Amino acid sequence: PNTYRVLILPGDHVGPEVMREALKVMELIETKRSDKIKFQLTHEIAGGCSMDKRGTPITDEVLRIAKDEVDGVLFGSVGGPEWGHTYPNPESSLLRLRAHIGAFANIRPATFYSKSLVPLSPLKPHIATPVNFIVLRENCGGAYYGNKIEEQDYACDPWGYSTPEIERCARVAAALARTLGKDGRGDGSGGPATVWSADKANVLANSRLWRRVVSRVFQEEFPDVELKHQLADSLSMIMMTDPARFNGVILTDNTFGDMLSDQAGGVVGTLGVLPSASLCGIPGEGQKCNGIYEPVHGSAPDISGRGIVNPVAQILSAALLLRYSLGLVEEAVLIEQAVEKVLDGKDIGGLEIRTGDLGGKATTVEVGDAICSVLSNLLDGGHTSAT
Ligand code: NAD
Ligand code: IPM
Ligand code: MN
Repeated sequence: PNTYRVLILPGDHVGPEVMREALKVMELIETKRSDKIKFQLTHEIAGGCSMDKRGTPITDEVLRIAKDEVDGVLFGSVGGPEWGHTYPNPESSLLRLRAHIGAFANIRPATFYSKSLVPLSPLKPHIATPVNFIVLRENCGGAYYGNKIEEQDYACDPWGYSTPEIERCARVAAALARTLGKDGRGDGSGGPATVWSADKANVLANSRLWRRVVSRVFQEEFPDVELKHQLADSLSMIMMTDPARFNGVILTDNTFGDMLSDQAGGVVGTLGVLPSASLCGIPGEGQKCNGIYEPVHGSAPDISGRGIVNPVAQILSAALLLRYSLGLVEEAVLIEQAVEKVLDGKDIGGLEIRTGDLGGKATTVEVGDAICSVLSNLLDGGHTSAT
């Protein structure tokens, strides 16, 4: 079998709870595909747990492993009230990790993985039904990085971008639009999807550069991909009233992307099903590139320790790891199909196995077990539309 090396960083609060379920899914795949797949997992720590144990949110050694020793990083979530936000806080582990491996392209798909989630969206069904967009968030620059000033009565986060930082993101957005396709089926059918670039070019100097560079890259390199600009504030409003207008790719900076991707959780109805992939390059399926895979949601301290957190976002993040960093596209598709079937109550005897955020009563472990049981059938050759 081929060996795939993955660094596992569960983090704090619900992080370890959801990571356990994602690891169950990976173990199952390894067992069923033992001729082909061997996962070599390195278990390490980052976040508040690392501050408690090692006095730092993430050690240089863990950063080194992430960059040089593995094919991808599966990350849970970090932070919690017990550590507060005085720098360096647990969250800074994630920022250091992203910067260290150069994972500048943060792909955050917002889509209904299952039609049965539509009634759970706070939006009216006819508004929610066709939602299928990807937020592509710049992940290594902007207000998150640079020389911060933090004094008693003054604080400042310089919010800057350089042309190359914008160019590389624009290229990933265009590549995603081509793959996604106009009809959103992920096979490029109907020509490339539209890219919506979200900025505040009416106010921010760095947004004006952003807009100019993105326009030029699309004109010169991707004339087949439709590009539209939208101010980030009104985009956020339209995301609630007419989200399907943005079906395609929303290309935006670090700060706006953070906000808009959580807002997408509001469109879908929960953060509990939204995964993310942070890549160091342009994703080509079957082509390996290092990356960090984590849910969009945080450590949810308000519900941690009770076994009720939704593991779907973490499991779908593992699917993205297989797809983008390990080149295991077929297995990634099967994980996504298993999740969809469980959310739809298919192949599990019509049972409703969902966590509380989706209106159900199931535990984290029950959802993970149900996904594994459906996936097990699919891996045994149960019907799939994978190609
Ligand atoms: P959060 O995403 O942790 O939670 C927001 C709300 O959504 C909470 O009510 C929570 O219970 C719910 N929720 C989130 N994920 C869920 C899931 N899988 N299933 C069911 N319900 C879910 O955001 P927050 O409360 O603002 O932040 C909590 C901590 O997490 C903070 O310290 C924050 O900095 C950190 N955080 C970490 C990451 C990360 O590690 N990637 C991401 C975001 C926030
Ligand atoms: C996210 C989180 C992080 C961010 C925090 C925890 C650093 O909110 O991944 O969306 O702001 O990028
Ligand atoms: Mn966030």
